[in-house]
Amino acid sequence: MICIRRARATDAEAIGAVHVATWRTAYAGVLPDDYLADLSPLRHAAGYEQAITDRRNGHAVFVAVASGADAPADTAGEGGTIIGFTSGGRARRDWLAQGEVETLYLLDDYRDRGVGRRLMRAMAAHLAVVGCRSAMLWVLQDNPSRWFYQRLHGRPAAQEAIRFAGRTMQQMAFVWDPIETLLTATAAAPEG
Ligand SMILES: CC(C)(COP(=O)(O)OP(=O)(O)OC[C@H]1O[C@@H](n2cnc3c(N)ncnc32)[C@H](O)[C@@H]1OP(=O)(O)O)[C@@H](O)C(=O)NCCC(=O)NCCS
Repeated sequence: MICIRRARATDAEAIGAVHVATWRTAYAGVLPDDYLADLSPLRHAAGYEQAITDRRNGHAVFVAVASGADAPADTAGEGGTIIGFTSGGRARRDWLAQGEVETLYLLDDYRDRGVGRRLMRAMAAHLAVVGCRSAMLWVLQDNPSRWFYQRLHGRPAAQEAIRFAGRTMQQMAFVWDPIETLLTATAAAPEG
């Protein structure tokens, strides 16, 4: 079984580990190898712990937890294993939309089972509850996951160059306005 729930401070370490594992596969060949090799689960865990506990600006973190037959073979621990997460809140720059999905990452083995859609649904519902009438996110233009957002009827709304890890890259923004378009696109979430 895979369930989606709000993250707790004690989840931060596992979220940091998923962050690093997913960045190393999703951004291989996009970000420099040494940058990816130097990523630290513990350093990211500290950032996520703050994001979980500091709820200012409508911030929230949701996790996907696999248990039972769906748990990774080496981690059949009680309470399940975190295999993905999303974070977001009121938009850092609100010229495109009021709410922002800041992160969405899922371990490779759990993709294409509807879990990403369910995480997006949880975040969209949360953003709506904290009063955001629209939502957006930034994705690197070279990231194939951009098609996932297009599949969820995100509207390409902006493009900009960013400097990250010593490289200049293009990122693009997808917008859901009104936010109900994202709630509708993620509504038929199959159980993963
Ligand atoms: C993006 C991500 C979260 C998607 O999660 P997922 O669980 O694999 O996606 P789902 O199974 O919920 O897919 C929902 C729909 O999008 C489609 N889809 C998913 N990824 C896709 C892709 N890369 N290209 C095209 N379509 C895609 C699915 O086929 C599905 O279509 P359907 O409506 O016909 O069923 C996941 O692939 C991921 O973690 N990627 C790597 C990390 C990353 O780059 N994150 C984004 C940072 S901005």
